[in-house]
Amino acid sequence: MNLKEAIVNRRSIRKFQNREIDDKIIREIIEYAMYAPSAKDEQPWHFIIIKKRETLNLIEKKHPYAKMLKSAPLAIAVCGELKSENQQRYWMLDCSLAIQNLMLGSYEKGLGSVWVSIYPREERVKLLKDILSLPDDIIPLALIPIGYPNEIKKIPQRFKEEKIHLEKF
Ligand SMILES: Cc1cc2nc3c(=O)[nH]c(=O)nc-3n(C[C@H](O)[C@H](O)[C@H](O)COP(=O)(O)O)c2cc1C
Repeated sequence: MNLKEAIVNRRSIRKFQNREIDDKIIREIIEYAMYAPSAKDEQPWHFIIIKKRETLNLIEKKHPYAKMLKSAPLAIAVCGELKSENQQRYWMLDCSLAIQNLMLGSYEKGLGSVWVSIYPREERVKLLKDILSLPDDIIPLALIPIGYPNEIKKIPQRFKEEKIHLEKF
């Protein structure tokens, strides 16, 4: 698979097969995430793998846009560490780049994924902080349910010439 195929064909997947994912595959896609660029190379991310059905169901019940957790075999909570001033400034950007790698890596392994937003919604941040026992300076940015897809999505046409500007807007 080349990079263009992964970037263009990846879609948000919200229906998953009832099939477990090998731990080795999960570790590998988290490794992809850890190779993302980050400000000053501080790598402020943490990845919490959630497999327990009762935890996935609990989040699903309390989050308005996370119905897909019902069929997901697991989800990864991507959290930022806010220890340094640099991390406080850039954690969200750094973690977002890691998530993009995670999602493209999932696609490469034949898995589907979707970004479920947590930060900056205070009630969702608190929900995950409580459920996952996060320390004060660890903030959950997003939850990424991952699984073998049980839906086929069309590839949209997204290239728009008018979004490209030469020299000036
Ligand atoms: C910051 C962000 C927050 C999102 N939050 C949710 C969410 O809470 N629930 C959900 O089902 N999808 C969520 N999505 C997925 C978007 O709906 C999806 O990426 C968009 O519709 C484009 O579709 P595609 O991913 O298939 O290209 C989110 C995506 C981003 C980038």
